[in-house]
Amino acid sequence: MVRLFDFNKYYIFGAGRHAEEVFYLCLNSRGTSHKISGFIVESPMTDSFLNLPVYSLNDFLLSFISSKRKPKVLVAVGDVKVNQRVNEILRGNGIFSFSTIHKSVNLRSFAHIGVGVTICQGSVFTTKISIGSHSIINIGCTISHDVQIGAYVNICPGVNIAGGVTINDGVFIGTGAVILPKVIIGTNCVIGAGAVVTKNIEPNLIVVGNPAKFLKENSI
Ligand SMILES: CC(C)(COP(=O)(O)OP(=O)(O)OC[C@H]1O[C@@H](n2cnc3c(N)ncnc32)[C@H](O)[C@@H]1OP(=O)(O)O)[C@@H](O)C(=O)NCCC(=O)NCCS
Repeated sequence: MVRLFDFNKYYIFGAGRHAEEVFYLCLNSRGTSHKISGFIVESPMTDSFLNLPVYSLNDFLLSFISSKRKPKVLVAVGDVKVNQRVNEILRGNGIFSFSTIHKSVNLRSFAHIGVGVTICQGSVFTTKISIGSHSIINIGCTISHDVQIGAYVNICPGVNIAGGVTINDGVFIGTGAVILPKVIIGTNCVIGAGAVVTKNIEPNLIVVGNPAKFLKENSI
């Protein structure tokens, strides 16, 4: 049965641990904190999460199909491809995203920030940094000057990125990785946890180790 959802409200796509982290981040975000009204998943296994309702994506979309006023949805899923796919579905249905940025983050660090960006507690940014839409910067990262981060990038906890680095769209950087100055990481690469990236990485590769070396192609 299709339920009527409240428009003009904020929802999180996802009901896993990252979604839970984002829910609490929303309570401590910059500016107007976003009061979350519920969670959305593709196939709900439960009716509620964190004492809020869980809706199926299809029901959610159907409820707003003819409504001019749409709610906002932040996709809180670590998988880069799922993040991309769900955001495209939402956008195709006229539903847009919102950003949640921890209140400790200094917005003057940024030359540009896209929409639907998540920046968690304890990440530190210096200056002239760009972040593309729907990217995630998890807890405790350091990001230095003139770093360009594309769209749908997931930077896991404790990553250190030196000055002048370029990270293209759809890159996943595992926890604790280090990216050395001016390195360019190609689209859809995966950087393994703890890797030290010393040289440019061609698109669609998975690299691991110190110094980071080719492990395999990222075929997904
Ligand atoms: C790089 C990564 C994506 C590879 O995953 P995978 O394709 O499933 O690879 P496998 O686990 O099959 O490992 C393949 C080989 O690479 C090695 N390897 C995997 N990850 C590695 C890493 N981060 N550093 C060094 N070697 C690594 C494995 O030991 C294995 O070596 P072997 O063939 O000699 O036994 C993954 O290991 C990783 O680092 N993910 C990051 C996870 C993360 O940070 N999550 C944070 C969530 S908040």
